[in-house]
Amino acid sequence: MTNYASAAVPGWAAHAWVIWPLFAVLVLAGIGLVLWNRRLDVATRPLARLGRVGRSGRGRHDSLHPPHVERVRGRETELAELAGMLRRPRGRFAVLCAAGGMGKTTVAAQFASQANAAGWRVFWVRWRDSAELAQQMVQTALACGLPEAELESARAGRASLPDTVWRQLGRARRWLLVVDNADEPQEIGPAGEPLADYRGWIRPHGRGLLVMTSRDCSPQTWGPRARLLPLKPLPAQSAGQILVDAAPTAGTAQQARDLAMRLGGLPLALHAAGTYLAGPTSRYRTFTTYRQALEHELPLLLGAEHPDASHPRVARTVVRHTWEVSLDQLAREGNALARPVLRLLAVLAEAPVPLSLITPDLLSAVTGDDVTFPALEAAFAGLHRYGLLDLPHS
Ligand SMILES: Nc1ncnc2c1ncn2[C@@H]1O[C@H](COP(=O)(O)OP(=O)(O)OP(=O)(O)O)[C@@H](O)[C@H]1O
Ligand SMILES: [Mg+2]
Repeated sequence: MTNYASAAVPGWAAHAWVIWPLFAVLVLAGIGLVLWNRRLDVATRPLARLGRVGRSGRGRHDSLHPPHVERVRGRETELAELAGMLRRPRGRFAVLCAAGGMGKTTVAAQFASQANAAGWRVFWVRWRDSAELAQQMVQTALACGLPEAELESARAGRASLPDTVWRQLGRARRWLLVVDNADEPQEIGPAGEPLADYRGWIRPHGRGLLVMTSRDCSPQTWGPRARLLPLKPLPAQSAGQILVDAAPTAGTAQQARDLAMRLGGLPLALHAAGTYLAGPTSRYRTFTTYRQALEHELPLLLGAEHPDASHPRVARTVVRHTWEVSLDQLAREGNALARPVLRLLAVLAEAPVPLSLITPDLLSAVTGDDVTFPALEAAFAGLHRYGLLDLPHS
């Protein structure tokens, strides 16, 4: 430009049809570089700036990558339902719900891997507390293109942080966000407000799909825009296949199915039995001998105490303890009767139990306390909410 303005104009630049297009190219290249720089900014900014969102530095090291899963059996219906919602969320979010060990996290991880392969951006948040959830939600929104200025405005108190994050999640397309193990949803909602008002971190307003996994199966908890996908025990075919995958030399497919049905098709129990059978030093190494041993050694095989069971993260990996986590939660919510009711039901035969059989008088005799009808109904409702008590269809 200096040359052009001065007398010493190079010969080729003396022609207007050369120099003006050249200027235009330079201007366009400049604009292009500015835009590219912004993109790079969005990609690299989250780690550098997230510190101020969270309560501690711990969450900064948490990955948003989904966990790896190998050989998921069954669950085709739930995966197909989720795939449909991923293509068209239509103002809804999904909740995979069931009792502990039923395979919610596993199904969500399998779905995340399918979505990732299909080109969706996938984010995985493991619920621990609301401060970490906030941090990871912001990280997700930034990765989906949330402009720095909007985040700064929310940080400065000029806008709500959840509103800002969800505005961006409502603009961006083709993303999947999984919030895993959200077992105490009342902690996730804004303080003192129901989650179902959708004013906190959980909202149905994304252009992508939000999937929750939770032990809480209550429609009241999740509100009208939640599509609840309750997981049931696995059918014989898939359940037996899990045992064969774990211990391929332990017997025939039919023997595996028989053992799988004895274990109630519960994935966590199948996983525990499969791991045991595959152990080179185990006493029982075939499906049949293990199933026979269960009749008299169940407390030793599947009911053994775990020394670290007081930690909920350990407890949920052990068949004996995993449902105690939910019973503890019910007790904390003031529903102490749920535990003796479940224990009492467990003493009865493996068949539907008429509700009328379980009376306040019976529970009074069991617990030694006065039990009222409302307390008993609350215990049934609590167990049903956490997937520990099911109703037969008829
Ligand atoms: N469909 C499946 N195929 C194969 N293995 C499975 C399947 N579902 C669950 N499992 C295995 O069962 C175990 C428990 O599953 P998972 O952790 O997904 O249960 P969960 O419902 O999320 O439990 P929690 O409520 O404690 O979080 C895991 O070891 C997992 O590998
Ligand atoms: Mg889980």
